[in-house]
Amino acid sequence: MCGIVGYVGSQSALDVVVAGLKRLEYRGYDSAGVAVLADGGMAAAKKAGKLANLEKELVERPLPAGSTGIGHTRWATHGGPTDANAHPHLDNAGRVAVVHNGIIENFAALRAELAGRGHTLTSETDTEVVAHLLAEEFSACADLAEAMRLVCRRLEGAFTLVAAHADEPDVVVGARRNSPLVVGVGEGEAFLASDVAAFIAHTRSAIELGQDQVVELRRDGVNVTGFDGAPAGTRSYHVDWDASAAEKGGYDYFMLKEIAEQPKAVADTLLGRVDADGSLTLDEVRIPPGVLREVDKVVVVACGTAFHAGLIAKYAIEHWTRVPCEVELASEFRYRDPILDARTLVIAISQSGETMDTLMALRHAREQGARVLAVCNTNGSTIPRESDAVLYTHAGPEVAVASTKAFLTQLVACYLVALYLGQVRGTKWGDEIQAVVRDLSRISDEVERVLETMEPVRELARSLASKDTVLFLGRHVGYPVALEGALKLKELAYMHAEGFAAGELKHGPIALIEEDVPVVVVVPSPRGRSVLHDKIVSNIQEIRARGARTIVIAEEGDGAVVPYADHLIRIPATPVLLQPLVATVPLQVFACELATARGNEVDQPRNLAKSVTVE
Ligand code: F6R
Repeated sequence: MCGIVGYVGSQSALDVVVAGLKRLEYRGYDSAGVAVLADGGMAAAKKAGKLANLEKELVERPLPAGSTGIGHTRWATHGGPTDANAHPHLDNAGRVAVVHNGIIENFAALRAELAGRGHTLTSETDTEVVAHLLAEEFSACADLAEAMRLVCRRLEGAFTLVAAHADEPDVVVGARRNSPLVVGVGEGEAFLASDVAAFIAHTRSAIELGQDQVVELRRDGVNVTGFDGAPAGTRSYHVDWDASAAEKGGYDYFMLKEIAEQPKAVADTLLGRVDADGSLTLDEVRIPPGVLREVDKVVVVACGTAFHAGLIAKYAIEHWTRVPCEVELASEFRYRDPILDARTLVIAISQSGETMDTLMALRHAREQGARVLAVCNTNGSTIPRESDAVLYTHAGPEVAVASTKAFLTQLVACYLVALYLGQVRGTKWGDEIQAVVRDLSRISDEVERVLETMEPVRELARSLASKDTVLFLGRHVGYPVALEGALKLKELAYMHAEGFAAGELKHGPIALIEEDVPVVVVVPSPRGRSVLHDKIVSNIQEIRARGARTIVIAEEGDGAVVPYADHLIRIPATPVLLQPLVATVPLQVFACELATARGNEVDQPRNLAKSVTVE
């Protein structure tokens, strides 16, 4: 939540910062602002609404040119999305500017204290106190990095801060606690950002910042310390994708591009994970096999779409390893005092690696002695850094707020983890594992085939644009797929959408069925678990008898559903457990097209942000 950029170098700071903010707008789009050091002073501009409003303001009232600057795109927490609450925030003298992501929990006390010393605060934000505190500390020590360290020691909560001071015109300082911040190192220039996407056009050389660290950025290098001033070790890494991966590439929306990238994302996530003799080698999973053999419970924690991936993972983990698996919303997890010990394996699934609820859940799990394995798409982010092990998904950057390709790759990663557990625990034979891996390696082509047949789904979506409600039903692994279909529709089309386990219908939800209500039904394969298939065909008949308009997603060759389907969406036949990899795709396309038909912003749905770094 909130995107932050800082720049020191020889280019126009404004150009670099605004271009960086464009790449980070997915993190928040309530308001945006920039500050540039120029002519011995600080020049700032900020505007409520999307970045485009700020760009317009900068054309109408240009800022002076400078080569040091900071910028922010906001997802509001304290104070509504107004010009005054937009960042940067400045001190009363207008010499220091600060941008912030997170929540400063003790801001009310600090604000009262500052007011007592004669400061005038003009916004409703928690952030503004930092500008005033930095100004006070700087006036005593004349060193922005030191001032930042002193201020950070007084702050409670989660924060990434980036600041500049007119008296140190070639310096930008950043600090982080429980909120993301990465450093980019170029030739004679350096960058700070919430995400590498902001500076990938300039450099692919990045440095991770650890917890409670302050970084001082100068043209000729960076200096990282702890909040206490002690020099800090850092980890440098090379970003393995380039600027084009973060562009729309000719698509109208990032979401469309990311849906289309799924075959590659799935294939890339499988790449290099099977060795010559056919066994799985998950190098990054640094938990010794002996420990995995002792595991007596798996708990998956995640939020939103990643939670749905976890629900599907449970079926695979329990089926292939016979280890009990619980799946819990990360935001609920630690508050119910879960039973965890050294024999519990916690799997934390997160695309961004920064979701605060998931981070807090994994910290709680580790405190109780459990091992944590992260499934994550963002190299160097906080969740994998704080976990015992990580399995990276290789979806590439996901920019659209609604998660698509990350979800499919999370599924692949979870299947791999389940198979790996089966391998080390001896519950799966090598040839069985190889057979599933072969099935998985075919999925990329199957997803491609689904994508090629989506025009009728788009047409159907457009025809439903004026509906109020769409319901989704599934059984077994189709149930989380139904939940995911409903979530996509809620967040993108702003429609009432609910997913149900089809067997639950008769226990209440069937009362929602009335004439012409669209109901999407994810039908399990008639092969394998035929009993599930037969039951859901009965469910379709039950809702159709009550007037529902049935939209049936069923595998090719499944003739039993034909008489009861008002609309039939065919997907390729897959093994039962892998069906979500193909069945989810039409639901993504459906939601995206419905949102477009309703005139909604597909990539930036209202009230949302991509990376949820507050609890
Ligand atoms: C929905 C969506 C969210 C995220 C959730 C977790 O389309 O994207 O529900 O899945 O906020 O985010 P990560 O995976 O970054 O932890």
